[in-house]
Amino acid sequence: MSRSAHPAGPRHADVLPEGHYSAPPADLNKLDEKVWARTVQRDQDGVVTVGGIAVTRLAEEFGTPAYFLDEADFRARCRAWADAFGKDADVFYAGKAFLSRAVVRWLKEEGLNLDVCSGGELTTALDAGMPAERIAFHGNNKSAEEIERAVRVGVGRIVLDSFQEIVRVAHIAQGLGKRQKVQIRVTVGVEAHTHEFIATAHEDQKFGIALAGGEAAEAVRRALKLDGLELIGIHSHIGSQIFDTSGFEVAAHRVVGLLKQVRDEHGVELPEIDLGGGLGIAYTSDDDPREPQEIAKALRDIVTRECEAAGLATPRISVEPGRAIVGPTAFTLYEVGTVKPLAGLRTYVSVDGGMSDNIRTALYDAEYSVALVSRTSDAAPMLSRVVGKHCESGDIVVKDAFLPADIAPGDLVAVPATGAYCRSMASNYNHALRPPVVAVRDGEARVIVRRETEEDLLRLDVG
Ligand code: LLP
Repeated sequence: MSRSAHPAGPRHADVLPEGHYSAPPADLNKLDEKVWARTVQRDQDGVVTVGGIAVTRLAEEFGTPAYFLDEADFRARCRAWADAFGKDADVFYAGKAFLSRAVVRWLKEEGLNLDVCSGGELTTALDAGMPAERIAFHGNNKSAEEIERAVRVGVGRIVLDSFQEIVRVAHIAQGLGKRQKVQIRVTVGVEAHTHEFIATAHEDQKFGIALAGGEAAEAVRRALKLDGLELIGIHSHIGSQIFDTSGFEVAAHRVVGLLKQVRDEHGVELPEIDLGGGLGIAYTSDDDPREPQEIAKALRDIVTRECEAAGLATPRISVEPGRAIVGPTAFTLYEVGTVKPLAGLRTYVSVDGGMSDNIRTALYDAEYSVALVSRTSDAAPMLSRVVGKHCESGDIVVKDAFLPADIAPGDLVAVPATGAYCRSMASNYNHALRPPVVAVRDGEARVIVRRETEEDLLRLDVG
């Protein structure tokens, strides 16, 4: 989503370079509620607060860089998704976006289910008390140990991703004297309008079994024959950061086509259809995500229409939003260390984190917003690039955004909408210490994932 240079407005250079930015906002101090967590606002001194606590106080108490998560917003989004889909559907939060024991407890309390895709995520979910039957287990190459544990504890469903896995799960379940509920993940051949690395429904990729050429129908044939498996439905996930429902429409059409084929061939109506996750959020003011109610209605309508046309009873629908629940609820707080203006180009603003706490800009060319949050400023907007402290020029957090021209070392800046896939994809590159996640609610802040320490690094390094 590349935007061109804006011709007008105050700025530090006469000619703005080509870039990903749009016009400087009319008021740099104003926080666009689209990209910030719900309780974020500025207090009378101009300092940004979340859950009623000033970021200056949070920085003092918890240090920077750090992720601050608005718990009330997280819970509200869980409820919005659960309410929108109602009793006839299941919402599974995709734990890969961000998972911790506190998050699991919130999900449990708000009535959501949980999708995990590794033994580590399963352990976290179980340890925090998520009932196993509310857990779905995903992954294109689950180990035999992971499968065995999932079956043993009684996860609600395992999503089968390959022909080998159909046999593997059946064998393990049978060995344990169990019949495991499973879905088969299919690739429906949709080109989702998103970055190649996060699109997952085209056939030329590692996930799922292709509908095309009858492979998925063959997978169903095999699964239905195996005693260890109870096939409850078909799963499709078309990709991530998707704004329009047309891709889901094609996916639903093709999945229902398979359900019809299964009914005709085996006399079996599979009771469930999972449309995956992938619903987009606003990273910048230019993004316009749709509300859960609207998405739920669109998806329900599509499935109902397709099933009526095929003469099938409407199956139970499930969805797996990750980013759309946790993404907007958190921001990353950084302290500015150096400011380097490049005349006629842009100003490099270095912060105390970087690609180790947000790899998405480098990996997907993702766009983010940024704001000066420790004070307001009346200085002119200055085209800025927020960069980290890693030994790599691609260490960019926000590629092009406007910050006030008087930005200086010691200022605090925050990057909103970093709740999804930032802490969960964080690394120790350059032996950086992964930042903490601090949950803020009603004037109280508590660490839910602590900051790594140098002792943590040395503990793994066994010499
Ligand atoms: N269900 C399945 C089967 C998935 O593979 C995923 C994401 C989701 C649900 C949740 O998707 P969401 O609603 O969060 O978009 N690391 C990338 C995204 C990769 C997502 C992988 N699977 C990113 O930072 O954008």
